Amino acid sequence: MPTPGMNELTFVARLGAVTALRADHRKQAGKPSVIARGDVEERQVDSQGRVRRCDIRLSSPTGRKLASGEMKRPEHAEGRDPRNPNLVDDARRKALARGLPYYFTCNMAEVVLFSVSAHPRADDREEVSYQLAPISHSREVEPYWDQIAENWNKFLDDLEARLSAVKRTRPSVTNADVISLRDSIYEVADEAIDRAVSHLSDLPDKLDEIRDEVANTFGLSTALRPEYPAQFRSELLQILRFGIFVAAQKIILYRVLEDAGPRHRESFTLDSLEVPKRSSDPLAVREALARASAHAIARSGDYETAFLPNPVIDTVFISPEGAEEIQNCQVGEVWNRLVSRVYDASWVAISQNLVGLLYEVIVDDEFRHELGQFYTREDVVDILVAFSVRSSTDVVIDPSAGGGSFLRAAYYRKRDLGANHDEALSDTWGAEITAFAAELSTISLATADTSEPAAYPRVMLKDFFDVRPGKSTDLEIPGVPGKLAIPAEFDAVIGNPPYISYRRQTNQERMISALVRMPQEIKLPKFSGKSDAYAWFIVYATGFLREGGRLGFVVSSAVLFSDYGIPLIRFMSKHYRIRAVVDSMVERWFPDADTNTVLLMLERCSDEDARINNEIRFVRLRKPLVQLLDEPSSRQRRQSVEDLVDTILGSLHGEADPRLVVNVVRQGEDGGMSFIPSDAYDGVDAEEEE
Ligand SMILES: C[S@@+](CC[C@H](N)C(=O)[O-])C[C@H]1O[C@@H](n2cnc3c(N)ncnc32)[C@H](O)[C@@H]1O
Repeated sequence: MPTPGMNELTFVARLGAVTALRADHRKQAGKPSVIARGDVEERQVDSQGRVRRCDIRLSSPTGRKLASGEMKRPEHAEGRDPRNPNLVDDARRKALARGLPYYFTCNMAEVVLFSVSAHPRADDREEVSYQLAPISHSREVEPYWDQIAENWNKFLDDLEARLSAVKRTRPSVTNADVISLRDSIYEVADEAIDRAVSHLSDLPDKLDEIRDEVANTFGLSTALRPEYPAQFRSELLQILRFGIFVAAQKIILYRVLEDAGPRHRESFTLDSLEVPKRSSDPLAVREALARASAHAIARSGDYETAFLPNPVIDTVFISPEGAEEIQNCQVGEVWNRLVSRVYDASWVAISQNLVGLLYEVIVDDEFRHELGQFYTREDVVDILVAFSVRSSTDVVIDPSAGGGSFLRAAYYRKRDLGANHDEALSDTWGAEITAFAAELSTISLATADTSEPAAYPRVMLKDFFDVRPGKSTDLEIPGVPGKLAIPAEFDAVIGNPPYISYRRQTNQERMISALVRMPQEIKLPKFSGKSDAYAWFIVYATGFLREGGRLGFVVSSAVLFSDYGIPLIRFMSKHYRIRAVVDSMVERWFPDADTNTVLLMLERCSDEDARINNEIRFVRLRKPLVQLLDEPSSRQRRQSVEDLVDTILGSLHGEADPRLVVNVVRQGEDGGMSFIPSDAYDGVDAEEEE
């Protein structure tokens, strides 16, 4: 009878024991180790309900997780090679979910170490591998155990040296870090609010100034009337949180550069950021942050645009007056805590959505609807960008860039399709009306690949209706004479334009005069004037697109049933092939917004026959997007997005597909939409959300 092999669980438990013993020996010898424990995780169920292999987690003496690994027996198909893509993918996914800088795979005979890449889409690097023993079956483990233990210790020595040398013991940022950073932002605001209320109440001119700045910078209208104390306080608190968020963002960028500098093509190092901890002088804190920004610009020779000072920040640093206020002032302490929250995590592979999320969580519900700033989910962004951006040379614009999620996705899409950093950056344009959001967009593009020497994003702080194709901008780039000109035409327009109702639109005259200036061949729709802002964005964006260029927008589903929807649909069918209109039966993509949304996929087309004979696909998704797409960190993500877009565009009427249901309508003269039978979707059930 053959000897049974050793199972993974036992093997991993024994490696855990070797790991703990090593740490004990080192401690006794007065050489404390970075890696103190190796814990077994036997059962892991992934998002699709599959039970995963057992793995091992290495952690520090204080319990901080440092690296994790996947184990498979060598006689198993997936264990024959420790570089087996499924094994590596699983290990990677778990390391990313835990924010770990390293992961490894092991088949009992060999252990292979990988480092998580410095930017989200680049491939990870295989760092090193160690032979544990010359075995091809787990039943050979026992006789080779001493050799395996010895080589495992060598592997741990090596990993420990790497963790210490590059200071990569900090895990990557996760949602939990974002929430704790939000708490810190609140704490800094709470520390400052009493001073702000008492000092600003008697300064009506200063309040006027702040009101204007806040409107320009954040698009937030405030009354700021001290005679209504509760409202005055809550508005000031929101302003403080915004201001502190802006400063926090610069601290994050500083950390990104501090981590990325040594690996940058033109390597540089930054001193670590110090805020005077015991200080009760807000100006000393402000000075320390300003010095840090200047230092980062000087050392990196770049990022001026991202570190530009922002006037609203001044409101955050109001000096205490009188002995009691000075004594109570803990400004140094709270800012110090905020800086350490940023330092706790590594933000190098920062996902744009985390900054968007941070922004969302600091906006109070009472202000959120007015701002119309809802940051778009990554999966929605990826689908629209995959539809719209088709080639590495595509020139792209997001006319209402917000936090820059579409711009960043377009940058990566162009890199995926073969563009280099400079090409991807110089062909990705954004317009944004509020200074703060424009800054967010700039930062998210500037940090898209921090290993590259220079990053000058093309984000214009401008009302889109003031942007004209081919005209000069205010943007200047070192080494390029004069101001940059906007491209004369674009291959793709992407984004999530604001859904601001007619009542609240303040720039209507501007919109109308911009539309009147549009090329003759674009026939303006007969809007009643009561249209939501996004309808005007579609019309104006049409003047930017080349023949065959694509537009991918998230818009309100009111496009399908409102009064202004009909002229808008007619307009679209005169200028575009309406490729698809996509919505979900099972989820709302913006759960906090008032509006339901659909994804609009259009292709500019001047051939009337092609438009009339075009078949519009009304697609309703029957599963949540997380179940239709691979996880953002997985290697299959890009392909899964591409596949879903192809399915949407190629789906057949009435075809049975568990993922979606499609209604195909000939575009005709009027966009077909008015002819959808009201019972088109009857009898089709959404799948239960799991
Ligand atoms: C729904 S948000 C876009 C969010 C963004 N797509 C994202 O996911 O991060 C709409 C953005 O449009 C901006 N906006 C509103 N009117 C604008 C205009 N006329 N020109 C440029 N930007 C505008 C707002 O400031 C806001 O940031």
